[in-house]
Amino acid sequence: MRLRKIKRTQANGWRIARRCVIFFTVICLVPVFLVFMVATDHYIRPVRPLSFGIRKPFTEDRILTPHVLKNKNMSMVARRLDFRRRYLKKTCNVLGLDRPGNDSLHKPNPWEYLVNDKHHLVWCNVFKAASTSWMYNFNILAGYSPKFLRNSRTPPMTLARQKYGRPTLETLQKALNGSLSFLIVRHPLERLLSAYRDKIQYAVPGSVHRKLGKEIIRKYRKKAAHEAPIYPTYPEFVDWLVSSVRNGQTLDMHWTPIVEFCTPCMFNIQIVAHTETLEEDQAYLIKRAGLESVIKPQWKNAGKGSTTAQIFKHYSQLTRSQILQLYHIYRFDFELFNYSLNGYLELGKPESDPSKLLAAITMRDNNPNSVPQIY
Ligand SMILES: *[C@@H]1O[C@H](CO)[C@@H](O)[C@H](O)[C@H]1NC(C)=O
Ligand SMILES: *[C@@H]1O[C@H](CO)[C@@H](O)[C@H](O)[C@H]1NC(C)=O
Ligand SMILES: *[C@@H]1O[C@H](CO)[C@@H](O)[C@H](O)[C@H]1NC(C)=O
Ligand SMILES: *[C@@H]1O[C@H](CO)[C@@H](O)[C@H](O)[C@H]1NC(C)=O
Repeated sequence: MRLRKIKRTQANGWRIARRCVIFFTVICLVPVFLVFMVATDHYIRPVRPLSFGIRKPFTEDRILTPHVLKNKNMSMVARRLDFRRRYLKKTCNVLGLDRPGNDSLHKPNPWEYLVNDKHHLVWCNVFKAASTSWMYNFNILAGYSPKFLRNSRTPPMTLARQKYGRPTLETLQKALNGSLSFLIVRHPLERLLSAYRDKIQYAVPGSVHRKLGKEIIRKYRKKAAHEAPIYPTYPEFVDWLVSSVRNGQTLDMHWTPIVEFCTPCMFNIQIVAHTETLEEDQAYLIKRAGLESVIKPQWKNAGKGSTTAQIFKHYSQLTRSQILQLYHIYRFDFELFNYSLNGYLELGKPESDPSKLLAAITMRDNNPNSVPQIY
């Protein structure tokens, strides 16, 4: 009897001890867990602004090497391009951009397309997105010899248009049935910077763009107009661009949003190549079009210096409001081609007056049709 009582007391003692151990273990683990969470977050946070999102948003400068392309397994590239094509279609539908209308976003624009009937190839020539290379390729496909193209003083675009007329809506739609159609896109803000550098900063003396540059300086330079540099700075150019869009002016073809330039939601675009993956995408394109013996993939780029360095240099001169205003102008290109502001917004100068930032986010322009139904 007494023995059993002692045993029970012992058992009770053990149970209490066990509970105490569990209780204290849990109590000890909670702060460890909290410290772990804080530490992890702390660990992630400083990395974020430097990582530029999951996908590398900037196009790296590079030289094409033919052997890389020959040995490439194309099934992965094909899957990616199929994914992009379906993404474009879906996004067009969500944004209501696939419904025909009379405004510049909804009126099918066949004007900028080049149709090669012989090789069943259709391309919309987006400026500043490998356009030099593909203009060359289309000129080769049209029968010009490389030697002639090297020595010709006529702009490649003019030569191309002598062989490829501007298609009407009917001819383009007919050509698209049974052809391989493609588009090359680039991050909208990278494309804009490239256009600025090519056309405004390094404008040819006496050209339309040089005159435009002088006009921009006259209106947007806050210091005396004669102060260096002789071309508009990037912030001045952006101020001018934003104001043009606000006033509903037609934009220059070098920086018109692709959504208006090619109206990709109105046509069946099969291949959406990105400059970030251009080597693989165009190798696949050339293979699928059966043009391996005619076209050698190449990267003719007039630009100078590293793209990434230029992005840092120019976007850090803008304010965050200006970058958001640019997002507004190119918002459909961002959405249709799955680009983001990651890596760009952080470069901009913080706004001392928050109301400016708010105004940029809620910016409206003069073209009511550019606001889709979902807004
Ligand atoms: C869109 O971009 C994100 C990362 O930026 C990526 O994870 C996703 O797969 C992309 N979607 C398509 C359809 O390319
Ligand atoms: C390419 O990769 C896929 C799987 O990703 C594989 O099934 C296929 O056999 C590969 N093709 C070649 C030619 O290596
Ligand atoms: C476009 O405008 C024309 C006349 O200007 C009109 O007949 C037509 O119905 C309009 N189309 C749409 C989709 O609004
Ligand atoms: C595409 O072309 C084929 C003949 O080549 C024709 O039968 C078909 O109706 C056309 N499709 C469309 C949508 O025009």
